[in-house]
Amino acid sequence: MGSHNQKLLILTIFGMLCFIFLWTFGLPENSIKDPDFNDDSTKMNLMNDAPRKSNKDENVPFNKIPPSISNKLSTVYDVDGNPKEYINSRYYVNYLSIFRQQHHQMLSMLVQKADLAFRNNSVYSVTLKSQLAPSQDFHDYLSLARYFWPDPNGRNGLPYQKRDGYPNPEIETVKDYAFLRKVFKDVENLGFAYYFTRNDSYVEKSIYRIKEWFINPETKMNPNLNYASFIKGFNSGRRTGVLDMHPIYRMLQSIPLMRSSSKWDFLVENQLKQWISDYYEWLEITSLGKNEKISLNNHGTYYDVQAIFLLSYLDREEEASKYSLEALIHRVNTGIGLSGQQHHETIRPTSWFYSVFNLQALFLLAERSQYYGYDGWNYVGPKGQSIKKAIDYLLPYALTDGKGWPFNNIKEFELNSFVRLLELAFVIWPDDKYLKALIILRPKAKSEQALEYRNADWEDNYLCVWSLMTNKQLWTCVE
Ligand SMILES: *[C@@H]1O[C@H](CO)[C@@H](O)[C@H](O)[C@H]1NC(C)=O
Ligand SMILES: *[C@@H]1O[C@H](CO)[C@@H](O)[C@H](O)[C@H]1NC(C)=O
Repeated sequence: MGSHNQKLLILTIFGMLCFIFLWTFGLPENSIKDPDFNDDSTKMNLMNDAPRKSNKDENVPFNKIPPSISNKLSTVYDVDGNPKEYINSRYYVNYLSIFRQQHHQMLSMLVQKADLAFRNNSVYSVTLKSQLAPSQDFHDYLSLARYFWPDPNGRNGLPYQKRDGYPNPEIETVKDYAFLRKVFKDVENLGFAYYFTRNDSYVEKSIYRIKEWFINPETKMNPNLNYASFIKGFNSGRRTGVLDMHPIYRMLQSIPLMRSSSKWDFLVENQLKQWISDYYEWLEITSLGKNEKISLNNHGTYYDVQAIFLLSYLDREEEASKYSLEALIHRVNTGIGLSGQQHHETIRPTSWFYSVFNLQALFLLAERSQYYGYDGWNYVGPKGQSIKKAIDYLLPYALTDGKGWPFNNIKEFELNSFVRLLELAFVIWPDDKYLKALIILRPKAKSEQALEYRNADWEDNYLCVWSLMTNKQLWTCVE
């Protein structure tokens, strides 16, 4: 990484940490009061190569401060002209204390989660379900279509009818979906916890879960989604069921972190790779996979996210890179209108939820594109569409709790997931309106979490900051 990039990265992280810290705790009593603390350093952009301006602040009597302190950065050149950047001491002291505190907090929460995953000895398996897919194979994954309901007058409730936006609680009678997500989440937490603690127990448990879900003949899942999002009365599942698998990136990003452990089992991993390879082939050759790929709404966006991570895990990095660039451009062009409205989401009865949900996938695509060297965050489509426009489109309605939202919306205006994107937006695009909005919205999101909303699992984005520092090994920035 070039020193310029490093400088930007450090500044970005510094800014975000200051911001998160100040947000969470307010200024500590003993912090050094500084009139321009937490101003433009919070606005540094990770990607933009804008030259750094001097840090003149109108409110500071600039001529009274020695130059080395008035700047947040000092550059010292050695005899060969090689620069070394120093963060101004006052900021550095604050930076370190913020860093220590946030790190400690994050780590104790992460270890708690990993310990829960470690201690959980119940079986996670597709074979536990009491109803079978039409194939009559217990190993075939089955999930029931979320928005389909039995006909009260029909025989056996058939035919099922669609009520978009109204989940049928009957879906809970098949646990494959919940188990699948639990496997991904547990392996993620175990791998991340290993990364920080080097406790091999977490690796052993990950291997155990991977074997149980993907490999053991008694408990494994077959590498297909033939019966995902299944409507009773039909012979197969639907293409929309492919979405069930999208959080697989949680597991796939965690695995490389565990390979350094003596408890990592490469034979098991080879079998997992075979499974992933078979599954990717299934995605490519079945009509379910193909049709999901060409869908225009969040289903298509998440298909792309999934495909990029799968290709990358299979060491097909060139394809992953190419795919990531094409997907980013395609989804911004087709998923976002010139106003920033996401038309394919706003037609849904739960239009707010799906607008945020698709935006999360776009953030994941942008992150992947950046990982492969392309600045997808700032890509602008032929009509002026961009990811930033999509978040800016939603922002005013978030601020009014949905008042004035010009679309049908049968669900509440949940803010938690949106605020999480907003915190990331604030780091990516230097725009004060995001900070102003966060002042209002973050407390609301926090109270939603206290009510245990769906996405309550959110630890102040510290791990997201960490991921920005570690080449995206721990990408937890969207939920
Ligand atoms: C590793 O984690 C396990 C599971 O929580 C725990 O029982 C064990 O004491 C830990 N080992 C060390 C060395 O901390
Ligand atoms: C273990 O995980 C399963 C599946 O998510 C869950 O139903 C069960 O309550 C968990 N058990 C413990 C002890 O946490």
